[in-house]
Amino acid sequence: MKIGILTGGGDCPGLNAVIRAVVRKASHYRYDVLGIKDGWKGLVEGEAIPLDAKAVSGILPRGGTILGTSRTNPFKSPDAAEKVVGNIKKLGLDVLIGVGGDDTLGVAAKLFKQGIKTIGVPKTIDNDLSGTDFTFGFDTAISIVTEALDRLHTTTEAHHRAMIVEVMGRHAGWIATYGGLAGGADLILIPEKPFDMEEVCNIVKKRAESGRGFSIIVVAEGAVPKGVEGYITKDVKKDAFGHVLLGGIGEFLAKEVEKKTGVESRHVVLGHLQRGGSPTAYDRILATRYGVRAVELINEGKFGMMVALQGNKIVAIPLEEGVKQTKTVDMDIYKVAEVFFG
Ligand code: F6P
Repeated sequence: MKIGILTGGGDCPGLNAVIRAVVRKASHYRYDVLGIKDGWKGLVEGEAIPLDAKAVSGILPRGGTILGTSRTNPFKSPDAAEKVVGNIKKLGLDVLIGVGGDDTLGVAAKLFKQGIKTIGVPKTIDNDLSGTDFTFGFDTAISIVTEALDRLHTTTEAHHRAMIVEVMGRHAGWIATYGGLAGGADLILIPEKPFDMEEVCNIVKKRAESGRGFSIIVVAEGAVPKGVEGYITKDVKKDAFGHVLLGGIGEFLAKEVEKKTGVESRHVVLGHLQRGGSPTAYDRILATRYGVRAVELINEGKFGMMVALQGNKIVAIPLEEGVKQTKTVDMDIYKVAEVFFG
């Protein structure tokens, strides 16, 4: 049995832990593993490297991915999709493990429909994949946001300012909600709940007038004011899957808040800091469990499946179920965060 593994989409702490787990578990069954370079791009171009225990030694704590990644969508052109199928045959792959978010796993689901054996491992710092309670990378991201908020608190308080902290989260505000809750945000704005500019300003004004004097607002990059269609962005560029490149809401808010309240405001974009560096213990363990289960599924002859965390169990669900819709924020958790707004 020859297994191919690729990592696609935005990188995420824990990808190397999955690769290591797949290789180590595969060796128990004496399966070979081939690492595909740079996501689907590597299969379009037929670029792969053999992976054995030595190749994955020492990678568990490393961020990024030793295989590289890309946002290549092979189904954008029939030619590229054909090349992917051809290279899977040429490389002698019996099954392909795709580690990625909805885009990468969407391609794996399509290939499965065309008769290629695929398995999905859910990955995104955004935690917005359905069918799984958590994706690895998310815990690392919210730990980084929490530390940033702790640091921003002291400087914001000292200057009696409003600090707008923009975090990742295109369609779902998981990072904003969990990070903001852990970091004691005074307001959290998420894509699921268009916000009222006047209410935002009232909170800042009230806090400025009260003894507390400063405000920390966490905003997800995909959050929008009520009545605004689409996103607030600085750029109109799109990636291969048609997603607008976000960023700009933090700066927009800081300007508006200062103009409307007279409270000096600053913004910080945490951006790719949230995706970089070593995964937390939680993410290393989750990623490892996913990798081990993915190889077990191959051994059981179950394909077209995605491994998922439900409760504290790793289960297998149809790939299509995992990619069918964005998992939006659990409003019960958001309501807990709301207790601390203002
Ligand atoms: O991985 C998803 C994500 O983190 C989104 O929240 C964000 O919009 C996007 O990646 C940005 O990624 P990049 O700048 O690498 O394209």
